[in-house]
Amino acid sequence: MVSSFLVTGGAGFIGSNFVRHLVANTDAQVKVLDLLTYAGDRRTLQGLPSDRVELIEGDIADAELVDSLCADLAKGDGVLVHYAAESHNDNSLNDPSPFIHTNLVGTYTLLEGVRRHGVRMHHISTDEVYGDLELDDPERFTESTPYNPSSPYSSTKAGSDLLVRAWVRSFGVHATLSNCSNNYGPYQHVEKFIPRQITNLIDGIRPRLYGQGLNVRDWIHAEDHSSAVLRIVERGVAGETYLIGADGEKNNLEVVQTILRLMGRAEDDFDHVTDRAGHDLRYAIDSTRLRTELGWSPSMTNFEEGLAATIDWYRAHEDWWRPQKAETEAKYAQAGQ
Ligand code: NAD
Ligand code: DAU
Repeated sequence: MVSSFLVTGGAGFIGSNFVRHLVANTDAQVKVLDLLTYAGDRRTLQGLPSDRVELIEGDIADAELVDSLCADLAKGDGVLVHYAAESHNDNSLNDPSPFIHTNLVGTYTLLEGVRRHGVRMHHISTDEVYGDLELDDPERFTESTPYNPSSPYSSTKAGSDLLVRAWVRSFGVHATLSNCSNNYGPYQHVEKFIPRQITNLIDGIRPRLYGQGLNVRDWIHAEDHSSAVLRIVERGVAGETYLIGADGEKNNLEVVQTILRLMGRAEDDFDHVTDRAGHDLRYAIDSTRLRTELGWSPSMTNFEEGLAATIDWYRAHEDWWRPQKAETEAKYAQAGQ
């Protein structure tokens, strides 16, 4: 059992879901290192016990801060779990520079910290590093699919994975990696596809579908992502990569229609808007390795039920998302989206 965790990006969407998962399923102490960018919010950690969870506001590229946090982890059986990133493709098309800083320089800084102090690390990555698939491709992504990222976001995530692998091989750093598919669930920023459409409908705005909506994403609930990461931390083999997915492929049109139906609206009550530049067509994960070698399986496999619960969550937590909504929509409006 791991006694303490340092979770980078733990005030963001998936990182905060992981912190809640740790509090509910372990006795570990949790420190969160988060810069509280536009995507991070201390209110995301509200309600968690202050004797178990501590938020440290800071940059993962701050070498001095990272060094002292890694020194603390080294005093016990501590593990660093690295979620912090610039995470939104559309933003990376407007301004790639923060993606270079956080995803590449930040990951490098953490690797040097864990190397110096002999601390274990788990690196969180994305299926987007593999590029995209044709709609009728019978193969899904596996751990041996070649890297072929498309956007500034996915290429900096790919670069961060390669840095981790190099630090494992060259310096013997004890790290595991995981690449997960598209997450949904509570505390996701309203810039992302599913919360954007739910909160648009709450505000009486029609959902916005890029292009024809035929792009496919492989949806997994954030809670299942968290249970997979904890399983890898507990049982994963150092140096290895595990793909995380829940067999949840759906095209964007189907997702919008399901949201509309669940929110009591006609299924054609949406707008087609300007497509994303370089828009990846399809992602799909084969998670056989994680299931057979580490015995993990997802529990929230009914997408419609998970989506209905997510809609309820956004209806009940308007105070959480409201402050970001107008600015986010203004940016999309400028891009014709
Ligand atoms: P998010 O944008 O919601 O959260 C990112 C968090 O990182 C925020 O709290 C932000 O303040 C923090 N952060 C950003 N720059 C930082 C810095 N320099 N130092 C410290 N903290 C910083 O992102 P998310 O959707 O929760 O994604 C988390 C991780 O999971 C990312 O690494 C992402 O690539 C990966 N991932 C996301 C998905 C998905 O569907 N969202 C799927 C697979 C993998
Ligand atoms: O696959 C994992 C990745 O999933 C993560 O690495 C990223 O951090 C995460 O943001 C997500 O990337 P996507 O680009 O797939 O997610 P996004 O929510 O931005 O968009 C999902 C799909 O919906 C995509 O095909 C674009 C489309 N879309 C998006 C928005 C915001 C729309 O049609 N309309 C929209 O308004």
